[in-house]
Amino acid sequence: MLTLSGVTVSFGAVRALREVGFTAPAGQVTAVLGANGAGKTTLLRTISGLVRAQTGTVRFGDRDLTRQPPEAMPRLGLAHVPEGRGVITELTVEENLRLGGLGRGRRADADVLDRVFSLFPVLRERRAATAHVLSGGERQMLVIGRALMASPTLLLLDEPSLGLAPRVVAQIFDLLSGLVADAGLTVLLVEQNARSALSIAHRAVVLNLGRVVVDDDARVLADDDQLRHAYLGF
Ligand SMILES: Nc1ncnc2c1ncn2[C@@H]1O[C@H](COP(=O)(O)OP(=O)(O)O)[C@@H](O)[C@H]1O
Ligand SMILES: [Mg+2]
Repeated sequence: MLTLSGVTVSFGAVRALREVGFTAPAGQVTAVLGANGAGKTTLLRTISGLVRAQTGTVRFGDRDLTRQPPEAMPRLGLAHVPEGRGVITELTVEENLRLGGLGRGRRADADVLDRVFSLFPVLRERRAATAHVLSGGERQMLVIGRALMASPTLLLLDEPSLGLAPRVVAQIFDLLSGLVADAGLTVLLVEQNARSALSIAHRAVVLNLGRVVVDDDARVLADDDQLRHAYLGF
């Protein structure tokens, strides 16, 4: 499991995270929700070592991640899919995927590639196409597939649904659900699309101005009209 405790991050005068603490259980999806500017992206960047916490600790299993540089993360089992679907448009789908296997210092083996292609048949069909021909949904599948090439045990996803049609969002979230159920992956899912995220999450953490204001079973939050109205706007 992933455990944060007392994590504070400031950018100059802006306090992006204030004493953030919660546990994301192993083999489950934990949704991280909250308005724009709440600190969700900063939270993921802090876990993966891209931002340094001023105080607090991040632990994953029996490892202390707090002072680890981002380069160490693949070896520690972490994969981070940032906002914005950064595929390399000049490379083919397969070349993009193979880049994801390099973080551990060895070539991605054919088995992992085959597993990713089984999860995303559309990527197998288009393996030789340059990534610039892919739709938004296919690009999102490609960046998730690329992260899976490192065989992570913890997957951090930043707003995977942004700008995608509801049908495509449903497809990607179904896939994530399946991955967690079959492979025991631990997922931290940052979303503004709270309704969809809660439909697959086991746990939910809501950030408001950098503070944890809800940390509960996803079902409890989904069923609590007051909390939903107050923090999620639906
Ligand atoms: N690199 C940065 N430099 C300065 N301020 C930042 C930086 N990154 C984020 N912030 C600020 O931190 C707060 C949280 O931002 P962010 O983590 O991106 O929120 P979210 O992902 O929930 O929209 C915002 O006020 C944002 O402007
Ligand atoms: Mg963000």
